[in-house]
Amino acid sequence: MDDELNALRRSRMRWNTPLSEAHAELLLDRLALGAGHHLVDLGCGWGELLLRAAARTPGLRATGVDTDATGLDRGRAAAGDRDVEFVEADAATWDLPAERAFCVGAAHIFGSTKAALEGLARVVPSGRLLYGDGFWAAPPNPAAEEIFGPDTLTLPDLVDAAGAAGWSVLHLSTADQLEWDDFESTSRAGWAEWVAAHPADPRAPAVREWLDRRLREYVRDYRGVLGFTYLVLGR
Ligand SMILES: C[S@@+](CC[C@H](N)C(=O)[O-])C[C@H]1O[C@@H](n2cnc3c(N)ncnc32)[C@H](O)[C@@H]1O
Repeated sequence: MDDELNALRRSRMRWNTPLSEAHAELLLDRLALGAGHHLVDLGCGWGELLLRAAARTPGLRATGVDTDATGLDRGRAAAGDRDVEFVEADAATWDLPAERAFCVGAAHIFGSTKAALEGLARVVPSGRLLYGDGFWAAPPNPAAEEIFGPDTLTLPDLVDAAGAAGWSVLHLSTADQLEWDDFESTSRAGWAEWVAAHPADPRAPAVREWLDRRLREYVRDYRGVLGFTYLVLGR
């Protein structure tokens, strides 16, 4: 897809994860962010949660890292005068220690959940991590397994993996159905609105095909099957 459609695709999403405003505030509370902390968001996308952390924490140094230039540009445009830097880099090789980190929906950067929890322990030698990841909330059907891969864990196994990597769980919560439905709907809305306004555009059939597939997979294969947890981890 071209740059115009690329930028439009996620334009209706607040962030790229199933998360309500109230749930986000609760997670930021549990991170106990403070002046002088360096907070790094690995796989930040457009960094909306990072921007909110910076807005509520005077003196926080905030860095977002991602490989997607479109997302980073959106983050820089939204940052205004907030002290947030957006860096285009491979987060898997990020080795600058920080007191706080986010890794939300981005464990795949490290190759697996286990590798992510171990790699993030090197980024945060002492401090807190907000770790957001998918898990099987119900036994997966073959189609869901195919979409999300063999590395997806159950919630107890995910909690065990955090412990094995040296983290203690300070907070655990999961996305509810409304957060999931809002996430899935807003992930389609940018293109759904575009295709309704441009039905004869030569790009419309491919966009319609993507929209139909995404909705079909959600309602048939993984709605209620894939969960998403937010762990605030400490070490
Ligand atoms: C599901 S999104 C989550 C974005 C963000 N954490 C949020 O919650 O809105 C996963 C992000 O990981 C980024 N990503 C994938 N591989 C990466 C890599 N090697 N280094 C940095 N970012 C990467 C993608 O570009 C994408 O923005």
